[in-house]
Amino acid sequence: MTVTKAISDEQIKYMIDLAEQGKDNAYVPYSKYPVGASIMTGDGEYFNGCNVENASFGLTNCAERTAIFKAVSESKKTNIKLLAVIADSENFASPCGACRQVIMEFGQDAQIILANKSKEYRIVSSEDLLPGAFTKNELE
Ligand code: THU
Repeated sequence: MTVTKAISDEQIKYMIDLAEQGKDNAYVPYSKYPVGASIMTGDGEYFNGCNVENASFGLTNCAERTAIFKAVSESKKTNIKLLAVIADSENFASPCGACRQVIMEFGQDAQIILANKSKEYRIVSSEDLLPGAFTKNELE
């Protein structure tokens, strides 16, 4: 069973707005599909990010991983508690497989806010995104 802590409406709005600000910087000349993400670490620090594409398409870095790598590169104890992701779509944003694995690495008990372009959202857990994930626990 997943136990989730209640998040206030203000906190959700803050996370979605921060993700949207990240989206403003998206470098998406190929897909024209901007995505933004935000995270809150266990120390209550906030980071955001955008997708960064490349002419060699496979080198694209998703918004979620950009935000996470910014945090990890600036903080030893990342321990993500909240992550929001938003795209210009009527569907709720959905992290790709690679991002789900990276989210699990740095936020095994994170709550994930999946937003659409109208800022409607649903909240899931890291475990919901990647059930039965291979994690650092397996290597201990
Ligand atoms: N993208 C993200 O930034 N996050 C995801 O979780 C899904 C996909 C980006 C990658 C690429 O720049 C664009 O969306 C289209 O795939």
